[in-house]
Amino acid sequence: MVGLVSPLPHGTPVLEARGVRRVFAHRGPVGGETVANDNLDLTVHAGEVVALLGPNGAGKSTFLRQVAGQLLPSAGTIRVAGVDIVAHPVEAKQFLSVIPQECEPIRELTAAEQVRYFGAIKGIPRAELESRVEGILHDVGLWDQKDKIVRELSGGFKRRVLIAIAMAAGSPRLLLLDEPTTGLDPEARRQVWQLIRDLRRRGLGILLTTHYIEEAELLADRVVVISGGRFIVQGTVDEIRGRLPYRGRLIVLGADRLRPEAAEELKALERRWTVSLREPATVWFEVSDPFNPETVGVLARLTSLGVMASLRPVSLEDAYLSVVAPSEALA
Ligand SMILES: Nc1ncnc2c1ncn2[C@@H]1O[C@H](COP(=O)(O)OP(=O)(O)OP(=O)(O)O)[C@@H](O)[C@H]1O
Ligand SMILES: [Mg+2]
Repeated sequence: MVGLVSPLPHGTPVLEARGVRRVFAHRGPVGGETVANDNLDLTVHAGEVVALLGPNGAGKSTFLRQVAGQLLPSAGTIRVAGVDIVAHPVEAKQFLSVIPQECEPIRELTAAEQVRYFGAIKGIPRAELESRVEGILHDVGLWDQKDKIVRELSGGFKRRVLIAIAMAAGSPRLLLLDEPTTGLDPEARRQVWQLIRDLRRRGLGILLTTHYIEEAELLADRVVVISGGRFIVQGTVDEIRGRLPYRGRLIVLGADRLRPEAAEELKALERRWTVSLREPATVWFEVSDPFNPETVGVLARLTSLGVMASLRPVSLEDAYLSVVAPSEALA
């Protein structure tokens, strides 16, 4: 690896946030204040991806901006690679790579020019600049595209340029990505996922936000759910899925077009099992174990009656909805 300077051993804390809070005073004659977040504790380690999930306005970007030293916390402490971001912002920012929620590369420069430009601004010494730029372009998979004007790159490669720019910090340890794949097509999203995995393997700690729950399910070593400015659940994907009182779903499609015998069978099932979603054509059942013989037997019987039915384990999205919007979840 050329671009990253002496990565920390996997497992070393690169972010330690304790008791973080932010209050915004309202402007205008009425006054008042908004508590955007409160009492947030989070540790991110080298070689780890942590996904921050939560509804619009939950406080995700506010937290990332506090960690990035762009917004002062009203209370609490934040250490990046062991350095307090409030007390020593210049030193701490050497260890930070940040991509804000709304941000575009400069469209008229080539990929290489962008990285060189931002590397120079961020104080990479002139003697090191060329080799660092080369290393970063290799690290993010942009080497073959380096001389292309950014305007002509696909969306996925434009995100890579943003990540490359972010990497042009002194010695990045912590990468903050606010919705890195929003608006990308499925292929471009996969390219960005691969890049995130590569950077994790190379020892960066990565904190990202996303509204794509399956993105967190695929990428994150740990997930943190924030709602109303507070972390309400933290854990591995398995731990969070395990909080649901059921392990799987039986899903029936075409429920409004069933033969009489199949309709009877479905009605009988609705009396025995909990229904978590009922629409004219679709019924979702909660099942305690999607793999036990009785459940599989029910599926086989439905299928033999011509019902389009399937079994699947619970997803992170099931668990997310149950904690973020319990009343609306699947209702
Ligand atoms: N500069 C600001 N001044 C006043 N209030 C703010 C400011 N920035 C954010 N807020 C408020 O803080 C709360 C959290 O906003 P934030 O942008 O962190 O949410 P988010 O979780 O990133 O949402 P989204 O998913 O929509 O990006 C919101 O109530 C927002 O209105
Ligand atoms: Mg946001």
